Amino acid sequence: MQSEYRQRREAVLEAIGQGTAIFCSAPTAVMHNDVDHLYRQDSNFFYLTGFNEPNAVAVLAPSHEKHKFVLFVQPKDKEKETWSGYRVGVEDAKTKYGADEAYPISELGKRITEYVQAAPRLYYHFGNNKAFNERIIRLWQHLLARMTKKGKGPVAIEDSKLLMEKFRRVKTPYEIEQIRKAIAISVEAHNTARDMAKPGMYEYEIQAAIENIFRREGALGPAYPSIVASGENACILHYVENNQPIKDGDLLLIDAGCAYEYYNADITRTFPVGDRISEEQKIIYNLVLKAQLAAIEKVQPGLPFNAFHDAATRVITEGLVELGLLEGDVDELIKAKKHKAFFMHGTGHFLGLDVHDIGILRNPDKTWKSFVPGNIVTVEPGIYISPNYEPERPKEPKEGEEADKLPQPQIEDRWKGIGVRIEDDVLVTETGHEILTAAVPKELPNRALTAAV
Ligand code: GLY
Ligand code: MN
Ligand code: MN
Repeated sequence: MQSEYRQRREAVLEAIGQGTAIFCSAPTAVMHNDVDHLYRQDSNFFYLTGFNEPNAVAVLAPSHEKHKFVLFVQPKDKEKETWSGYRVGVEDAKTKYGADEAYPISELGKRITEYVQAAPRLYYHFGNNKAFNERIIRLWQHLLARMTKKGKGPVAIEDSKLLMEKFRRVKTPYEIEQIRKAIAISVEAHNTARDMAKPGMYEYEIQAAIENIFRREGALGPAYPSIVASGENACILHYVENNQPIKDGDLLLIDAGCAYEYYNADITRTFPVGDRISEEQKIIYNLVLKAQLAAIEKVQPGLPFNAFHDAATRVITEGLVELGLLEGDVDELIKAKKHKAFFMHGTGHFLGLDVHDIGILRNPDKTWKSFVPGNIVTVEPGIYISPNYEPERPKEPKEGEEADKLPQPQIEDRWKGIGVRIEDDVLVTETGHEILTAAVPKELPNRALTAAV
């Protein structure tokens, strides 16, 4: 495993030339009073080190003669470890994590100059760790002041997030293997949830069963707050209360995936719980499925990133027009973003160490970048018709402006309160794609479903 992290560091060391990259661990986060949230390492820090303790700094310094990779870590401390758990310590930072040199974090100020003074630039991401951001600025100012005497030093700071996205959006075979494990556990959880869900159960019972499987099967836990949304709750995109009883005739939307070894799965399925389904639920479900299948077809090496969202948007908009839920010319509706009344999010995102993984989608000239083998994206169109849906009142045109030519129509109540999303995780391969989450069924069940009353 260490060889995987070493290879990643070597690739970054090569990319930064003589520059020095500094990565700070994620800060701890307070849950309430003096109780912390479960610690989650910063993804770039973890990507390069596999080290998951707070109060640590990793330095990649190709310009240093001997120490290309340096770790600053919390030292071993018997008393502190009694309270907050095992620490790797300075020695094992070298022997177990492959650092050429390691120091206690308290020595950062004293030692860091050695690793940055000869570098023509620094790589650092100004993230939400404000205290550390200020430290980097002070360090840089110090080095700039010295430059008049020393004649060298970092003249610029480049964003290390931009640096890292180039590597992280193409997954290594090891990463794909970890994501497959996260997905295998999440697939089992979804299939169990589908089998157990019955009218009268509470949403949290399903959530508990899903998260029980996550932990039992060795996952760290949910990759994000699980969504178990029955009936009209599914129209709230980030519904996480999960505290309502499931009714006969409800569709149940489950968006849940686990984190395994820091890699994530992200799966959504929507299915009827009882023996009834309304014609409207069936129509909306099949429209989302059609859009999702059309979008997946556009996840291919060489195709631009926008193609899959455009495909889903077109299918959904055409369908909504046919149903009378939108009115007007399909192209004009899409251009005016009128589909957003019912499909208000993007069709997908990269998946990896972060659920919404890093990856820049456009070139500097604004053209879209294309998929390459090793990308993993979610494909997750949806339609959400709020129970309180009212057409947006057309805005009063300002002077010289035309009136909105595409006002939203009134819709019949029978459509209201239906929310459907279907989400798969898709790997781009040399020849096309592989749907990694295909083992969770997404056709409506064959069992007889009578019309809801
Ligand atoms: N579950 C988060 C997402 O689908 O993006
Ligand atoms: Mn999701
Ligand atoms: Mn997603």
